[in-house]
Amino acid sequence: MTYAAITGWGACMPPAVLTNADLSTFLDTNDEWIFSRTGMRERRISHVSATELATLAARRALACAGLDPADVELIVYGSCSNDEQVPNTASAVQLALGAKRAGAMDVNTACTSFLYSLSTASAMIRTGAVRNAVVIGVEIIAQYIDWENRNIAVLFGDGCGAVVVQESAREEGVLAEQLGCIADARQTLRIRGMGAAYANQGVTLGSTLIDFDGQEIFKRAVNGMVQASAAAMAKCGVTADDIDLVVPHQANARIIEAMAARAGLPMDKVVLTVDRYANMSSATVPVALATALEEGRVKPGSLILLPAFGAGLTYCAHVVRWGERVTPIQTLSDQLPLCSQSALEMVNAVRARKASQAAASTPVLEAARFADMG
Ligand code: UT7
Repeated sequence: MTYAAITGWGACMPPAVLTNADLSTFLDTNDEWIFSRTGMRERRISHVSATELATLAARRALACAGLDPADVELIVYGSCSNDEQVPNTASAVQLALGAKRAGAMDVNTACTSFLYSLSTASAMIRTGAVRNAVVIGVEIIAQYIDWENRNIAVLFGDGCGAVVVQESAREEGVLAEQLGCIADARQTLRIRGMGAAYANQGVTLGSTLIDFDGQEIFKRAVNGMVQASAAAMAKCGVTADDIDLVVPHQANARIIEAMAARAGLPMDKVVLTVDRYANMSSATVPVALATALEEGRVKPGSLILLPAFGAGLTYCAHVVRWGERVTPIQTLSDQLPLCSQSALEMVNAVRARKASQAAASTPVLEAARFADMG
């Protein structure tokens, strides 16, 4: 039997930090509200493209695995904030890595994109379609978020994480997963203004709007992650007591605490990065995993549970058996190009662009072409 072991990991975090105090310079909000409701203190704003973040994270993960980019057979790029719609962004990463032999695909299930990508890559390795894959979770949300809406602007940040998955004869990697989608709640989180429904109608990116029902998502997210965790653990015959570490999607510390309590998982087993990076959508899980490895929290043979949810509303949970190696084979010294602006300056530039474009463009709600999108 062939398994798909995780043999490399890496993150690439943009250096510019946007604090809660920065947000309160242009929004009616404050550190007390944001921290007590979400557990967030700060988030990162990227000065480079998602492709650039993804390429460096992937290169770090490949060095960690000791795998030459020329030998990569598949790149799965999980994201809902691609630099371009066509061509796909995995192809840009393939080019930048010099991974000429690799197939390249994008997967978009919103915040669960990394984990759905991990399922895809692991399944292809287990069937023998490929022998290895680079799996990426990356988002640049700052460019299209509605910064004037305090309900959502405080929640998100940019970032990227990646792993390398390789065939193995040992029982490791994803042992079981449960994927799901509560599609009748898909209207609770929607970005309007991107896609064919809005094409050629005078809508610019500056007029994107985000529909967001935070409380509804909160309840559904906790239920979805608890159910998926129970199902995934049952599939591979383990219980909450067997789990050594939980690396959940980081949308809100209160969501994570509610999920952990209901699933019978003590918080000292849970990795939290939401305080420093906020919600990076598909990047949260691979970045939290890389952080846990860096902090020595992953041990040889650890059993790790990875629950997540996202727009759709997609949800999932994966049970992963870690291999013997918890340290990188190699580390890269390469860094992103220097960032000459503060995070607040970059956000204010996005806000100014949006304001000037809004005057010239069709309001996004009037421009939607299809009425039957659910
Ligand atoms: O990864 C997928 C995407 N993430 C999510 O879907 C997140 C899921 N939802 C959540 O995390 C939480 O529902 C939120 C953090 C979004 C909101 O927390 P909440 O405890 O559900 O707050 P709320 O929506 O009930 O708002 C409470 C109050 C409201 O005022 P009133 O109506 O009580 O007067 C809001 O207007 O807090 C107000 N509020 C804010 N106040 C200061 C909302 N946003 C802010 C803000 N600063 N940024």
